Amino acid sequence: MNNFHFLISHAKLYGFIFPSCDIYDGISAIYDYGPYGILLKNNIKDFWWKSMIQLHRNIVGIDTSILMHPTVWKASGHIEAFNDPLIDNKDSRRRYRADLLVEEYCDRIEYKIHKTVEKARNILGEKFDEHICFITSPKITELKKQKERIIKRLALAIDNKTLNDIRNIIEELEIRDTESGSKSWTDVREFNLMFKTNFGPLRHKTLELYLRPETAQGSFVNFSNVSNSTLMKIPFGIAQIGKAFRNEIIARQFIFRMREFEQMEMQFFVAPSKEREWYEYWKHTRFKWHLSLTIEPHFYRFHDHDKLAHYASAATDIEYLFPFGFKEIEGIHSRTDFDLKNHQKYSGKKLQFFDYNRHQHYTPYVIETSIGLDRMFLGLFSSSLKEEEFSKGNFRSVLKFPIALAPIKAAIFPLVKKDGLAELAEKIFNELKCKYMVIYEANESIGKRYRRQDAIGTPFCFTVDYQSQRDYTITVRHRDSMRQERLSINKITYFLEEKMDFQKLIQ
Ligand code: GAP
Repeated sequence: MNNFHFLISHAKLYGFIFPSCDIYDGISAIYDYGPYGILLKNNIKDFWWKSMIQLHRNIVGIDTSILMHPTVWKASGHIEAFNDPLIDNKDSRRRYRADLLVEEYCDRIEYKIHKTVEKARNILGEKFDEHICFITSPKITELKKQKERIIKRLALAIDNKTLNDIRNIIEELEIRDTESGSKSWTDVREFNLMFKTNFGPLRHKTLELYLRPETAQGSFVNFSNVSNSTLMKIPFGIAQIGKAFRNEIIARQFIFRMREFEQMEMQFFVAPSKEREWYEYWKHTRFKWHLSLTIEPHFYRFHDHDKLAHYASAATDIEYLFPFGFKEIEGIHSRTDFDLKNHQKYSGKKLQFFDYNRHQHYTPYVIETSIGLDRMFLGLFSSSLKEEEFSKGNFRSVLKFPIALAPIKAAIFPLVKKDGLAELAEKIFNELKCKYMVIYEANESIGKRYRRQDAIGTPFCFTVDYQSQRDYTITVRHRDSMRQERLSINKITYFLEEKMDFQKLIQ
């Protein structure tokens, strides 16, 4: 089993993620979160929410509806431009996103560059210098140029909507269907990603609505409501977490690309000449946020866009090294005044700000940070999941989540159920449960209980044994190092509080 299949089966086996409607064989690209999955997801949400709203005096949160007035999507450009280029393979009859076929080809070029670098590293040993290798190797220079040429051509074809050109690129690069190896492709067609639904009883005249494809529009249409009710002054942000829906052409790779997913987005409204400065600020602030959660900083990188969304003047992705390669986890977009201006045009309502310093009214510009909650979950899950040999021939699967995000903070075990140990363990559990998500477990051997807590990522196990009755201490077993130590029962709360300090995580 490869790493990714192992991850998917671990997520199901231990109650993190289930295919939706599993008993009916599932429904493509829709998933449910299980008992530990929802705890982890809520902890990620909470961490993002605190980082955005609690730590910034000038960011407020809202929660807007999924169904919005249909004109919103005309104004936002989604009806006109929220399309993906679709292509079918004539032999396998499989459907693909044409731009992704080209991007995957470029990923293979990137992989060749990586292989060339690694080969040089092995040959030169200690004398190896990656920077020099990049600028002096003719092979790497040629591969980089080739990739740049392809990406530029693809971006141009998408911008100009010359779908034939995307097909020409696929033909010229001799891209094959991964299933059948066939190079026989249909023309490229445009496909709108929004899900439609009907508003009102079917027998009567109904209004066609869309399930929102991004949460951002809820913040734009509430710009005046929020600024008037909170007296926020530019620059300020509106943040929200919520579901979004996209009828994705291809939806593979587990929860990476889903048809129903959750976004954590923040729209930051700035004065017109300040957008570049704030774009840089948010780009780096968000990167730092990701690094605060990882011990593997090289798993993250920026990818500046050549191909821009219809509303953006600049955009970068924060990419994460998923088990299937570097892919977007969060987007930072400079959205100009596109959305507010268009909502003014279509609604006839002013969406402006009076700047007392400048003595003028203007339509603010927007910097957006947009992270997929499910992708963040997948990133965290994949970087935390380890298979370790803990003693000769004995293996454990362990989820080494950052302590503050772990679904269960501690498990409380009585060594055995008899002799009053269970009662003392239950007493400790009852005291901790008001403050922390903890569980009580008395069945099976201690070793098996440890293995299970490792598999769901519980950072601490507290065991009540006979010594506990004598000196009022328990054994703390640490998930990552498997080290054990004695701790006074009176100090458990302080111990957990100190380990879970939000401030420590965010520094
Ligand atoms: N409001 C801007 C916006 O929606 P996007 O780049 O299309 O921009 C933002 O999406 C983030 O939402 C992405 O970085 C990704 O993490 C997440 N996302 C987008 N489509 C997704 C999908 N089909 N499944 C899961 N997450 C998705």
